[in-house]
Amino acid sequence: MNAIEAHGLRKVFGEIVAVDNISFAVEKGEIFGFLGPNGAGKTTTINMLTTLLKPTAGSARVWGYDIVDEPERVREVIGLAPQELTVDDELTGYENMMLHAALYHVPKEEARVRVKEILEFLELERFANKKVESYSGGMKKRLEIGCALIHEPKVLFLDEPTLGLDVQTRAAIWNYIRSLVREKGVTIFMTTHYMDEADNLCNRVAIIDYGRVKAIDTPSRLKSTIGGDLIELEVSEINGLTSEKLRTLPGVIDVVLDGERALVKVVRGEEVLPSVISILIRDGVSVRRVEMKKPSLEEVFLSLTGRKLRDENGAREEIARRSIAIRRARS
Ligand SMILES: Nc1ncnc2c1ncn2[C@@H]1O[C@H](COP(=O)(O)OP(=O)(O)O)[C@@H](O)[C@H]1O
Ligand SMILES: [Mg+2]
Repeated sequence: MNAIEAHGLRKVFGEIVAVDNISFAVEKGEIFGFLGPNGAGKTTTINMLTTLLKPTAGSARVWGYDIVDEPERVREVIGLAPQELTVDDELTGYENMMLHAALYHVPKEEARVRVKEILEFLELERFANKKVESYSGGMKKRLEIGCALIHEPKVLFLDEPTLGLDVQTRAAIWNYIRSLVREKGVTIFMTTHYMDEADNLCNRVAIIDYGRVKAIDTPSRLKSTIGGDLIELEVSEINGLTSEKLRTLPGVIDVVLDGERALVKVVRGEEVLPSVISILIRDGVSVRRVEMKKPSLEEVFLSLTGRKLRDENGAREEIARRSIAIRRARS
C-alpha cells in the first residue's frame, strides 16, 4: 500500500481550475514535495487530501482510506501544519500543544507525556512555559509542526513549512523534518515554492504549474533531464576554428557563440573548464569572465513551463490574465 494515492484529482472554484486532473503516489517513509509557484494549486491539493475540501472530480486515498468516503478515518492518520500559523500567541507552547491534544481526544495523562517528548524533539522545551508571542518565526513554525504530531500521525502534511523564514532557520527546520522521518517513521507530503528546499529535502518532487503535474521524479533525475552543466564565458571575438576546437573537446555537448558571449554546454563543468580556458588562451582569445552553472530545479521548471519559478508576480499576473480571458470567452 502507498501512503497516498491520487487519481485525477480536480478542484474548480467558479471559473478557476485550481487543481487540474492530478495523479500521483507517495510511498511510505518518503518526503514527497509539491514544487510550484504561488497559485499553482498546492494548498488546494493539501486541503483535498486532508479532507478540508471536497474534490470536484477524481479520488484519493491516504493510508488506504478514501478522502471522500472515509474522512474521519483519514483525519485519524494525518497531521497538518497549514501555510498560515494557527498557534495561539496568547498561550504558552505547552498550552497550545495540550489544547491540540484535547481536540484530538488524547487522554490527559498521555498527552502530558507526548507533549513533553515532542517539545524536546523540536528543542522547544526551554520555551514551553513562555507565551508564543515571544517566540521567533522559526519557533512558531516548529510548534505548529509539534501540534500536528500530537496524535502520532502516519502521514504529515506540511504546507510551505519554511515560508518567509531566513536561510539558517529554514535549514534547521529541514533537519527536524528529516529526523521525523528517520526516527518516527512519518511519511511527509509537503509543498514549497523554494526550489532549494525541494532539492535538499525531498526524496521525490512533483513539479506543479497551473494545477497540473509537469513531472515527478527525484531531484537528481529531474536535473539530469536538463543534460549537463553550462559554462558561460565573456570573451573577445572567437573565430570558427577555435569554436570547432571547443566543440570537439571530450565532454563538450554544444557550443553557442552569441557576440561577446560563449555558451559551452558540457557533461561535467569542473572537468572540462580548464581545457576550455587553455584552448581559448592559446588561440589568443581573451577571457574576461567565466561562470559555471549546474542545472538546478529552477532550470528544470523553466524548461518544463517556459517560465521562471522565481517569477511569482509574473505568475500571478498570468493567472489574472487567464481568468479574464476565460470570462471574455464565455460572455
Ligand atoms: N477558496 C477559493 N476560492 C476561489 N479561488 C481559490 C480558492 N482557493 C484557491 N483559489 C485559487 O486557486 C488557485 C490555486 O491556489 P492555491 O491552491 O492556494 O495555490 P498555491 O498553494 O500553490 O499557491 C489560485 O488561482 C487561487 O487564487
Ligand atoms: Mg499555498
